[in-house]
Amino acid sequence: MESLIPLAYLVAAVTFILGLKGLSSPTTAVMGNRIAAAGMLVAVIATFFTQDVQGGVPVIVAGMLVGGVAGFAGARMVKMTAMPQMVALFNGAGGGAAALVSILEFSRELGAGRGTPPFGVTLPTLLALVIGAVSFSGSAIAFGKLQGIVTPRAFRYAGQQIVTGALVAAIGALALGLLVSSLGTATIDPMLLIVATTILALVFGVALVLPIGGADMPVVISLLNAYTGLAVAMAGFTLANQLLVVAGTLVGASGTILTRLMSKAMNRSLGNVLFGAFGAATAAGAAGPTGGDDGRTIRSIGPEDAAILLSYAQNVIVVPGYGLAVAQAQHSVRELADLLESKGINVKYAIHPVAGRMPGHMNVLLAEANVPYDKLYDMDQINPEFQRADVALVIGANDVTNPAARSNPSSPIYGMPILDVDKAQNVIVIKRSMKPGFAGIDNDLYLDPKTAMLFGDAKDAVGKVVQELKRAA
Ligand code: TAP
Repeated sequence: MESLIPLAYLVAAVTFILGLKGLSSPTTAVMGNRIAAAGMLVAVIATFFTQDVQGGVPVIVAGMLVGGVAGFAGARMVKMTAMPQMVALFNGAGGGAAALVSILEFSRELGAGRGTPPFGVTLPTLLALVIGAVSFSGSAIAFGKLQGIVTPRAFRYAGQQIVTGALVAAIGALALGLLVSSLGTATIDPMLLIVATTILALVFGVALVLPIGGADMPVVISLLNAYTGLAVAMAGFTLANQLLVVAGTLVGASGTILTRLMSKAMNRSLGNVLFGAFGAATAAGAAGPTGGDDGRTIRSIGPEDAAILLSYAQNVIVVPGYGLAVAQAQHSVRELADLLESKGINVKYAIHPVAGRMPGHMNVLLAEANVPYDKLYDMDQINPEFQRADVALVIGANDVTNPAARSNPSSPIYGMPILDVDKAQNVIVIKRSMKPGFAGIDNDLYLDPKTAMLFGDAKDAVGKVVQELKRAA
């Protein structure tokens, strides 16, 4: 049986790659997820046949039951808007597990009187320990910020950079001590070095994430996800388990790519996310504008006017954003689109890569309401179509439609690619107030003479427009 284990691991590794490929498109994502999950099951079953686990089966099964029930219940109960913090929690658990494996491996070697493991083993074990511990405590703070347990504000203090630098230097010095002892010249008790390294790495994770604003947490979580992948890959070297190396590397690489894509779509560098402040509402923005300096004013309409505008349209582009997720308006939006299509009106959806608060947020919501995938258009595909659209219907989206990103070099979002909503013949914006979105800045789109504001909760407002359309039919 043991000879089949490498084959099982190879099959699992292939399924992980196929799973990731499937996840790259909404049409294949569910299948991709199932393929990777099946591969993981194969890997778990195969692991039970390895010599390493023979003595510990009851403990492993008990751990799997606790983890499995917690994971299943958490995934079933979590609201879609709380998904980023759940990912943070699960990700932190992965990092913590990699760190624990490292500590156990060190203490097993030391307990057996063999001293610090050789350099080739100590180096990856140490990396798994440090990266895993940073990911664990950093993810815990990210979870706390998103959940409102820890202040979502960027927590900064005088001398912060010195403290962070000192922590890095201290971790480096301790790691050096361990590496030296792995060469057979121990001067300090290696277990003491391991405990101190773990504590400092945990503190460093907290120090890394605390100064970052809550609004930037999705990017940070994606980065920590990549860290966890790396930690797991390193643990794979320690345990001489090739599958862990492959799986961890895949997580590390995909997490890094995702972090880059998110930063790029937000027009931020990773350095700016980690060390710059963003997302704090400006004093003016907190209330929102009521009119422009040039005399332009906000035009507010009711559901009846919106229904009339929509029923005279030929082409309508729906632009969903974070507010649609908050209001859970996806089913009402689908109903509205069905109604318009039954009148011969062409309806498309414009999906901005960072609309909402997590990658694919809008795709997931609209899929839940069974909106056909072929009606969802990426930013590059849909932007040339706005000028032919009679109505752009913006539902709970703000920053991703802000023309300041194109025209105002002093705007914090200048350079961020946006949906060209302002090029449509008419724009209807559904939101509750004039308050800004994630970036905390006013949106000039609302002062455009073509724009009509329909104030209200997205689900409620769309529902009222549907009623008006039905009444007029
Ligand atoms: P935002 O710019 O955040 O705007 C959302 C708007 O929805 C708000 O202005 C809010 O206005 C409105 N809203 C909230 N609840 C509502 C409700 N119940 N009914 C109707 N409207 C509601 O969202 P966006 O346009 O989707 O842009 C996303 C932003 O998040 C970007 O700045 C992006 O960089 C950032 N971000 C995205 C991600 C990912 S990966 N998606 C990760 C991190 C950050 P009212 O309060 O007036 O209703």
